[in-house]
Amino acid sequence: MKLRVTLVLVSCILSILTGLVLSRQSGPQSTTSKKRSRPLIGLSMDTLKEARWQGDRDMFVKQANDLGADVEVLEANSDDTRQIKDVEALITKGVDALVIIPHDGAACAKAVELSRQAGIPVLAYDRLITNSDLDLYMTFDNVKVGELQAKFVADEFAKTSGKKRLVRIYGSKTDNNASLFKQGQDNIISPLVEKGEIEVVHEDWAQDWRPENAKKIANAAITKAAAAPGALPFDAILASNDGTAGGAIQALLEEGLAGKIIVTGQDADEAACQRIVAGTQTMTIYKPLKELASKAAEAAVRLAQRRPVIAKAELDNGKVKVPSIFLEVVSVTKDNLKDTVIKDGFLKEDRVFSAQ
Ligand code: GAL
Repeated sequence: MKLRVTLVLVSCILSILTGLVLSRQSGPQSTTSKKRSRPLIGLSMDTLKEARWQGDRDMFVKQANDLGADVEVLEANSDDTRQIKDVEALITKGVDALVIIPHDGAACAKAVELSRQAGIPVLAYDRLITNSDLDLYMTFDNVKVGELQAKFVADEFAKTSGKKRLVRIYGSKTDNNASLFKQGQDNIISPLVEKGEIEVVHEDWAQDWRPENAKKIANAAITKAAAAPGALPFDAILASNDGTAGGAIQALLEEGLAGKIIVTGQDADEAACQRIVAGTQTMTIYKPLKELASKAAEAAVRLAQRRPVIAKAELDNGKVKVPSIFLEVVSVTKDNLKDTVIKDGFLKEDRVFSAQ
């Protein structure tokens, strides 16, 4: 009890002095964990379908192992009931800290509640869990992701005169990030729509971020545009990530339109960067996953050892002000692929340029 009071006091003084926020402190370590020589961290993932998440998992586990901790990974295959069961299983296993990548940011509040009852601290990884007693949230500047995607399209549009027609493919409605990406895009696009410079001819949300769902949205947009033979049905697709961009480009390929229409993305995954080299995708957003995964592993180990984590920001998730860490993102086109994802060792040059 005395330690908790001291920590709360320290956190208040620190946050007043430095604006830094100490992670919220969950309950004391359980007896099982006290006996354990190495901290055990539970990692509950929404999906491993996208290349991105396989990278997050591998880099997180490696960093945690290097820090002397073990990690138990469970994947929910985009099923909310399954994800709650996964968290229950990790709690029963007596993990010292939980890291959750929620399929549904609202539905996962239940998982946080169960963890809190068990006195286990929870870190929300990349995606926010709303209305819950989260200990820590670590992600990228997601609004900026959307702004950079939309700014790229707007700058391209500005190179030629005339009103432009835009298709918008948002992410999964259950993912809080999808709304943040849209918010960032709106910050740039809405004023141009109001000025009559851009017309949004079709827009929709791609359930579970599935490429096949994005393809359906692009197909619907092409049908709706009913362009005259040889004419472009629209000028750009503002796709919220590389997976949905890939699905949309499949639809363009089938219509002989690939490479003629601007397509955005996010995640800088290998397939997307190959498409950028081939010219069918125009840009993506690089999010240095190694930084997020390793910093999150460090934080999770500290939470597991009931040691404070310093966060420079906080975010209101509807229930508490969650201590938060936001990392920077980079816009990537054919011109700076080598200076970004290749230079960082995120992707291999020969594989990315193999399509050339
Ligand atoms: C978002 C994530 C993106 C994207 C998407 C699909 O939450 O921030 O990087 O990959 O999920 O999984």
